[in-house]
Amino acid sequence: MAQRYVMAVDQGTTSTRCILFDQRGRLVSVAQREHQQFFPKPGWVEHDAMEIWRNLERIVPQALRQAGIDVGQVVALGIANQRETSVLWDRHTGIPIGRAVVWQDTRTDTLVDALAGAVGADQVRERSGLPLATYFSAPRIRWLLDSLPGTRDRAERGDILFGTMESWLIWNLTGGTDGGVHVTDVTNASRTLLMNLGSLGWDDELLSFFGIPRRMLPEIRSSTEIYGTARRIVPNVPIAAALGDQHAALFGQTCFAPGEAKCTYGTGSFLLMNTGTTPARSTHGLLTTVGFQIGDAPAVYALEGSIAITGALVQWLRDGLEMIATAPEIETLARSVEDNGGCYIVPAFSGLFAPHWHSDARGIIAGLTSYITKGHLARAVLEATAWQTREVVDAMNADSGLELRTLKVDGGMTANNLLMQFIADVLNVPVVRPMFAETVSLGAAYAAGLAVGYWPDMERLRRNWHRAAQWLPDMDPAKRAREYAHWRRAVELTFGWTR
Ligand code: G3P
Repeated sequence: MAQRYVMAVDQGTTSTRCILFDQRGRLVSVAQREHQQFFPKPGWVEHDAMEIWRNLERIVPQALRQAGIDVGQVVALGIANQRETSVLWDRHTGIPIGRAVVWQDTRTDTLVDALAGAVGADQVRERSGLPLATYFSAPRIRWLLDSLPGTRDRAERGDILFGTMESWLIWNLTGGTDGGVHVTDVTNASRTLLMNLGSLGWDDELLSFFGIPRRMLPEIRSSTEIYGTARRIVPNVPIAAALGDQHAALFGQTCFAPGEAKCTYGTGSFLLMNTGTTPARSTHGLLTTVGFQIGDAPAVYALEGSIAITGALVQWLRDGLEMIATAPEIETLARSVEDNGGCYIVPAFSGLFAPHWHSDARGIIAGLTSYITKGHLARAVLEATAWQTREVVDAMNADSGLELRTLKVDGGMTANNLLMQFIADVLNVPVVRPMFAETVSLGAAYAAGLAVGYWPDMERLRRNWHRAAQWLPDMDPAKRAREYAHWRRAVELTFGWTR
C-alpha cells in the first residue's frame, strides 16, 4: 500500500507554508510563499486575503510534487494560522470586503478607549479572558462595520461573513465558487473577544457590547474534528484540524500536561502554559485562552503572554535601517561588542502587549551616548526579546503560582545562539529546543492526524519529542537585576506616547 501522509498548512503573518509529515512526525516536503504587507497609514497593517488563498493554490501542489506524493496519499489536512487577523467577505461571490486587518494593526485605538469607558466594559475580561485591546478581532470587526458603507446592513442580512484566516481558508477549500462550511475552532474563537470562555460559544452580552451581528460569525467547533471535505486544491481530503498558530505550537511541543510551557519566537513571541481543564484567571496582564480541544473532550486552557514585536524588530533593523543584509547577520554584529553599552530598545511599534496592554505606547531607544555603535544597537535589539520574555515569565509565575522550571522554545529566532543564551541568563532557567523546531506545522499535523486515527493517541506524539539544544543560565544575579531595572525604566518611557 502507498505511504500515507498528513498535510499541515501554516498561514502565518508573513508567509504561508505547506508541510507534509510522515507517521514518525518527520518533515517530508515543504513549500512556502510570502505575501505582501500593506502599511497604508502609521499603525495600519493589512493583508490581501485573496493573495493568501492564491498562495495556497500554488504551494500545496508544489509540496506534493517535490516529494512525489499523490493527493490521494494525504489522509488529512490541518491548519494553523496567524490569529486575530480579521477578514470580511461576501457570502455570494466569495470576494473579500477590503483587505484583512492584521493583528498588529492599531487603527482601533480610539475605539478601544471609548469602549473601555462604556457600560459593560468591566465584563469583557471576565467573559472572554482577554483585556480590551486593539490586538483582538472584535474592535476590528466593529471598525469595518462602521467604516465601510452598507456593510452593517449586509452583515445583518447574512450576506457578509467574518472569519480569521483558518475560517477563510476552510470556507474556500470546502466550497466551490458558492463557498463551503463557515467554521472556526475554539482556539481561534477565544481570540475574538466574543467567545465566552466557560460555554465556548458566542456570548450575547459581548456581541451586543461590541455591536456585532451573530449572523456573520462562523460556527465554533473543536480544534480536532472533520469540518468538511476539500473540494478545491486537495479534492476529497478531510479538513480535520484548525488551531491558532501559537496553540498549534503548544500542541506540537507536546505540552499536554498542566504546567508545561513553550515560547515561539517569530514576528512576535508567544509564551503559552497549559493550565488544565479549568480556565486560570490572570491578575498580572496575561490572557486566558483555550489551548486546544480534541473532539468532544473537555477543552484544555492556557495562560498566554503575547509579545507583539520580537523578530519584527530584527526585520526593522534589516529593512527599515538597512543595518544588516540578512536576519542571521544580527548575531555576528551583536557579537562584535561585549554588551549593550547601556542602550535599550523597547519595540512598542503596535503598543505594548503582555503584561502591560498599553495601546498608546510607542517604541523608544533609551540610554544613547556617542559611545553607542551599530553593534550595541544589534545587541539591544536581541536583548529586547529576552527582557520582554522575562516580563511575561514573571507574570506567568505570579498568576499560576508555579515557578517555570524549563522553557521549551521554537521558531526562527531560536537559531540565534547569543539570544537563546541571553534568554536563559535573564530568566535564570534552562532553555531547550526540540530536534524539530517547526512546531506550529507539526501541531496542526498532529491534531489532524489524531482526528482521522493516523496517530492513535497523544502518548504516541510525546515520544516524537527529542531535545536538540539546551542553554543553561550563566549570569551574575546582581548584573541581571541591574539590567532588568534599566529595561523597566525604558518601558515606562513608552507609555502614553500617542496622547
Ligand atoms: O497572535 C498573532 C500570532 O498568531 C501571529 O503569529 O507566527 O504568524 O507571527 P505569527
